[in-house]
Amino acid sequence: MLSAQSAATVRATLPVVGAAIGEITERFYSGLFAAHPELLRDLFNRGNQAAGTQRQALAGSIAAFATHLVEHPDTRPDAMLTRIAHKHASLGIAPEQYQVVHEHLFAAIVDVLGEAVTPEVAAAWDEVYWLMANALIAIEKRLYEERGGHTWRTWEVVERVAETPDVVTFRLRPLDDAPVRDFLPGQYVSVRTGLADGAHQIRQYSLSAAPDAAVRQISVKRVPGGETPEGEVSNHLHARVHEGDVLELSEPYGDLVLADAPGTPLLLASAGIGVTPMIPMLARLAATGHDAPVTVVHADRSPADHALRTDHETYAAKLPEATVHLWYEQDAPEGAHTGLADLTDVPVHPGTRAYLCGPLPFMRAVRAQLIEKGVAPADVHYEVFGPDLWLAGA
Ligand SMILES: Cc1cc2nc3c(=O)[nH]c(=O)nc-3n(C[C@H](O)[C@H](O)[C@H](O)COP(=O)(O)OP(=O)(O)OC[C@H]3O[C@@H](n4cnc5c(N)ncnc54)[C@H](O)[C@@H]3O)c2cc1C
Ligand code: HEM
Repeated sequence: MLSAQSAATVRATLPVVGAAIGEITERFYSGLFAAHPELLRDLFNRGNQAAGTQRQALAGSIAAFATHLVEHPDTRPDAMLTRIAHKHASLGIAPEQYQVVHEHLFAAIVDVLGEAVTPEVAAAWDEVYWLMANALIAIEKRLYEERGGHTWRTWEVVERVAETPDVVTFRLRPLDDAPVRDFLPGQYVSVRTGLADGAHQIRQYSLSAAPDAAVRQISVKRVPGGETPEGEVSNHLHARVHEGDVLELSEPYGDLVLADAPGTPLLLASAGIGVTPMIPMLARLAATGHDAPVTVVHADRSPADHALRTDHETYAAKLPEATVHLWYEQDAPEGAHTGLADLTDVPVHPGTRAYLCGPLPFMRAVRAQLIEKGVAPADVHYEVFGPDLWLAGA
């Protein structure tokens, strides 16, 4: 909780800090990467940095945290903190790195706001930063402990399957003899890849097979170039990683997980490569014989582009109360709809809990329709395959 004096100062300066936060984070990242080029080369996502998206996520989350502190001083925005902590822990962020970020963030604040940063203002925002940082450090410590610390473990590709023209599945076995831990349906791993210029870049991939499978499985969609450059890691994995090659993986992380909820109606809605976390969820429901309706919704460009389609439909078919609703923009077979997903005619059971994964416009549209149909906003859970700008209300 913020001290009363800092709360008043933060409240008074939130508008000016909020208005300048874009510029502050711009300066912050330039300073950070000038002093520590290895962080841009080997830790931060270079594509997101070039596109500016991760910058908005960090800035937005600090502003959201400060707003929460002054508006709801007795509670903590745990959902936001947990989501960031899972991402950080999958990357191996260490407590001492918060000092480095602090140094460059506060240098940037002074740079941008100049004399407005009186000692009181600096002290109040320092308190905000460390409240947030210490909360993240504590959650990350627990996540590391649960997994026996952070390690990059080496896995061999034992099978590579072309799912669709754009999606490849990799099945991986650890090179060491230690067991493969189970994961919670919906979780992801970070994959660290060495690239041609010597850099190491890290990306997250959802685990796309049943949680108790003996191998780890990820399914990667190639991000094509066009107006912007082609995706670095996805194209590297498609072009260069084959059976017998190795990849470095983190342990599984992620807070969008299927809750153990017998008797609860569920709705699993995905679009495109957002199907990946839905497969372990359906596998788990099929294995436990979920005893309530399960509504499966998926939208894709065409049936040929629908990755993991056989698993998707086979697991759903094992659930006696499952109904499947498919939308394809082209080549929709009989029984599927043509066009974009539209839940108008999809029955949604009272008390439904929903899990969403796909592009933001898809998730926004589905969420709005679910809420219209009476689903409680707190029962709509989602995963974003990029910096989570929803988190900060963008
Ligand atoms: C929790 C989570 C789970 C995920 N699960 C999956 C999954 O199961 N399967 C899957 O395929 N993906 C998944 N992703 C997405 C994945 O992590 C990567 O983001 C994706 O593979 C793209 O990475 P890339 O390195 O190929 O692209 P990047 O190199 O990171 O590029 C990303 C975008 O930035 C753009 N860009 C790059 N440089 C510039 C520039 N200079 N100016 C403007 N734009 C630029 C690129 O054009 C591209 O559109 C997941 C992401 C998260 C966060
Ligand atoms: C209080 C301090 C911090 C805040 C508020 C913060 C906030 C965030 C947020 C909101 C995200 C995006 C999460 C998501 O997409 O779901 C993120 C990702 C990330 N953070 Fe932090 N962070 C902090 C400290 C740090 C530190 C100390 C490091 C290490 C130097 C770090 C490195 C990263 C990296 C590498 C990513 C992923 C970036 C990417 O994919 O481009 N963060 N952080």
